[in-house]
Amino acid sequence: MKPTILLTGKTGQLGCELNRLLPRLGEVIAPERNELDLREPEKIRDVMRNAKPQVVVNAAAYTAVDAADADEATASAVNAEAPRLLALEAKNVGALLVHFSTDYVFDGAKRSPYLETDRPNPINSYGRTKLSGEEAIRNSGAAHLIFRTSWVYATHGRNFLLTILRLATEREELKIVDDQVGAPTCAFDLAQATTEILTGIIAKTKSDFISPELKGTYHMTATGQTTWYEFAKAILEEASRAHQDLPWLSSARNARPIIARRVLPISTDEFRSPTRRPAYSVLSNALLMETLGLTLSNWRTQLQRCFSAEVSSRLPTTLFPSR
Ligand SMILES: NC(=O)c1ccc[n+]([C@@H]2O[C@H](COP(=O)([O-])OP(=O)(O)OC[C@H]3O[C@@H](n4cnc5c(N)ncnc54)[C@H](OP(=O)(O)O)[C@@H]3O)[C@@H](O)[C@H]2O)c1
Repeated sequence: MKPTILLTGKTGQLGCELNRLLPRLGEVIAPERNELDLREPEKIRDVMRNAKPQVVVNAAAYTAVDAADADEATASAVNAEAPRLLALEAKNVGALLVHFSTDYVFDGAKRSPYLETDRPNPINSYGRTKLSGEEAIRNSGAAHLIFRTSWVYATHGRNFLLTILRLATEREELKIVDDQVGAPTCAFDLAQATTEILTGIIAKTKSDFISPELKGTYHMTATGQTTWYEFAKAILEEASRAHQDLPWLSSARNARPIIARRVLPISTDEFRSPTRRPAYSVLSNALLMETLGLTLSNWRTQLQRCFSAEVSSRLPTTLFPSR
């Protein structure tokens, strides 16, 4: 089978990496935003019916966590209603829907890694809308894989890695939240794991359609855990060791030197964000390993790789040592 793959969100952190990797598997149709705005149900139907994909990879989302609290209607249109429609259309054409969700479906009260069987209880609009999207997909009857991930960053886009590097060129002292625990996950590793999983599924599919029995929700994050404060310190450590001519690093610093000398831990209360975030959102990846045979590497290893090479173009194709 050489599938037609519809990819949404190709300008995003994850979508950009998937747009580089998925053409190995089949013909990729990745519409521009003006061709497919996920707030417009008619556009979703038209694109799905014209493309007639065998696989839909939905890497698009409304990911601005603070803004989602102020505009839950738009967040809901993109994160809940659009996945629902994609799933219904996928079911009609017999396609597999691959979708991404978030650690923020949980409230953060647990102190050991969340399992897929743990009860979600989102505490902000982003988490609520993403959970609604998941539920709509699970209820649609379409073949689907939902990968919940966390703290996504890349060497492009809007993310914590690039924010810290920019702030470090502007301030001598950075104050970073130290009481939220999670697993920073590089978009490249996520895209590569997704591509490996799809490669296996496509290789096993003898007909033109993916089995409608293929259904599952999996946690897919880097292994290990850290806080935003420790993550910020690790970023600055790696930046101080890295080759300063790395194009993405130079662009993140806007060609200015890093002047930050101190990183200080603060509490979530001191940070004074109006949006609540889970204090603990580490996800167990055991099911992914047991069922699909994949483990992503440790968060620190993923970060180091960003600083040691152009992550998207020079990395080896197999990153899963435990396989
Ligand atoms: N970022 C994180 O920390 C994080 C954490 C956990 C889970 N996730 C999940 O991981 C997945 C990928 O996230 P990401 O970080 O790669 O996202 P991202 O970098 O914010 O990219 C989002 C993508 O969605 C597109 N998009 C947004 N609104 C749209 C609309 N109305 N119509 C069409 N496209 C639209 C954006 O297009 P434009 O460029 O045109 O705006 C962009 O291509 C998402 O499902 C997200 O919920 C992310």
